[in-house]
Amino acid sequence: MLAATPKLQGKSFLCEKDFSREEFLYFIELAMKLKDEKKRGITHRHLEGKNIALLFEKPSTRTRCAFTVACIDLGAHPEYLGKDDIQLGKKESIEDTAKVLGRMFDGIEFRGFEHKKVEMLAQHSGVPVWNGLTDQWHPTQTLADFLTVKENFGHLEGIQFVYVGDGRNNVANSLLVGGALVGMDVRICSPESLFPAEEIVELAKELAAKSGGNVTITSNVDEGVAGADVIYTDVWVSMGEEDQFAERIALLSPYQVNMDMIRKTGNEQVIFLHCLPAFHDLETSYGKDIYDKHGLPEMEVTNEVFRSEHSKVFDQAENRMHTIKAVMAATLGNLK
Ligand code: CP
Repeated sequence: MLAATPKLQGKSFLCEKDFSREEFLYFIELAMKLKDEKKRGITHRHLEGKNIALLFEKPSTRTRCAFTVACIDLGAHPEYLGKDDIQLGKKESIEDTAKVLGRMFDGIEFRGFEHKKVEMLAQHSGVPVWNGLTDQWHPTQTLADFLTVKENFGHLEGIQFVYVGDGRNNVANSLLVGGALVGMDVRICSPESLFPAEEIVELAKELAAKSGGNVTITSNVDEGVAGADVIYTDVWVSMGEEDQFAERIALLSPYQVNMDMIRKTGNEQVIFLHCLPAFHDLETSYGKDIYDKHGLPEMEVTNEVFRSEHSKVFDQAENRMHTIKAVMAATLGNLK
């Protein structure tokens, strides 16, 4: 049974702070319902006849596939538009492109660099716009992560959720703010030079004060991971920062998720999450290149942890689709 449906019709999904705690939790509840229906073969064509534009300025496996499959399951038609397919901001302004797309499509997903672009699409298109990742936020990832936490622990409130690694990337920002919004004990454990921006920490603290959550930013690994229910990490170098590998490896090696860190949590039930892709072995050309240049066979997470019973990363990846479906259905569908 779903809680009373919040009024989300027509709303864009750009970042966690745009939603109340109840609205954010509703997306997760709806995703659980849609996931259960899909497993039981019950169709849910809440977007029958709709057309959805999927704008990708960057490559993607999970987000693109999740939006595509979610659209089709909901009865909508997805149209993929890659960086060389349209003129977004190059030969046509974002405002003009948004107005054109809004005349033809019922909803727009955007993955790119500047957060301003997704805000402008939402401002000018007249249809719901969904953020598939910008330099600042990755909110559809947060929903999938929290659904995975809820599946494992039954609740989100009070969960000791620890993100280790680069504490100022889009995933860290989203988890910090999202965790505070839903009442988690959320911690960022990273080198001081990679602490989240002050305004993000302040925002998270304000939200935690309302939700009963807690926010900790620390560079001390022992302190940061003690008692953790969830250990989460992301790549040490984000797309576009590849020239910083040597510096990042030196800075972040003490924050690698390995079995020693898992033991330090003192919690046998601790789960490991990663938004993926992860560098945990030498099965990629990228990983081999790093190994040749820097001698590292694994980076932010060891293969042992990645393949251990603590790891829920493939459930988490699957949950991208169920949660993205919930966002589209709630903001564009005709849910009773
Ligand atoms: N986690 C994530 O956003 O994956 P993709 O880059 O494959 O979409």
